[in-house]
Amino acid sequence: MIDYHTTEILPSVRKAIIKGSVAAQLEKEGRRWRISWNSSVASYQETFKLVFPKKFNDFLKERKCIKKVYALDLMSSPAMLSGLEIDGGVAIGLGDLSNTEFEKEMINKNIEYIYGNLLTRQPWNDIVGWLKRNKAEGFDLITCRADMIRAHIKYVPPNPTVYYDLLNRAWNLLDKKGGVLLVDIPKFVYTSGIHQNLIDQWLRRLEENQIEYKYVQNSALKLVKNANSPKYLPTLN
Ligand SMILES: C[S@@+](CC[C@H](N)C(=O)[O-])C[C@H]1O[C@@H](n2cnc3c(N)ncnc32)[C@H](O)[C@@H]1O
Repeated sequence: MIDYHTTEILPSVRKAIIKGSVAAQLEKEGRRWRISWNSSVASYQETFKLVFPKKFNDFLKERKCIKKVYALDLMSSPAMLSGLEIDGGVAIGLGDLSNTEFEKEMINKNIEYIYGNLLTRQPWNDIVGWLKRNKAEGFDLITCRADMIRAHIKYVPPNPTVYYDLLNRAWNLLDKKGGVLLVDIPKFVYTSGIHQNLIDQWLRRLEENQIEYKYVQNSALKLVKNANSPKYLPTLN
């Protein structure tokens, strides 16, 4: 079952959030973003093809033979999810979709859009609530394509602890029988003094912990969870 422990935000992370992100600033000012990005499944597949060459729907169909399948798209509108063959899903973003036709259409597909800042605790609690209501153990596919390479400072403060915290929270929500997490890598990982040795060391720790992964520099990371996987990802340092 879902672990509630990681739904707490560490004080060090909170500090970095306040300092770092446009999202936090907008929230303070009570404003919402009006951006709408309605990317397709094909466009996501293209982004993640080096770490996950399979078609998303082929992967989901295989799983659908044995269970209900669910997907989560972090930092997004529900557009990509609407092209997936799933029994339900959740998208979290800062675009305002309230009371639109699109939102209603999604509700009919059991896809919920949560307006929320992922650098705060609330949306994570909401996701856990959604899983409970759907009697789901976790998500079969979790994606996060925030375009962090180009727009990293806007979306995630350039701080490894914050990024690691986001990864761990997503990891916590994966289905334990082969759930797949696909995320893009923020630019700061390469530009703000995180030495490649540290990344290599973390990847070795994934291996030692028998976590299946694929990492492609300047591109993306895939993590796969199974019954033997640890509860938490190995630490960064
Ligand atoms: C460049 S768009 C990418 C949208 C979509 N993932 C795609 O690939 O088409 C960035 C998205 O991140 C969302 N976003 C940015 N910062 C966020 C935050 N702190 N919490 C939740 N969503 C955030 C925005 O609302 C927007 O939907």
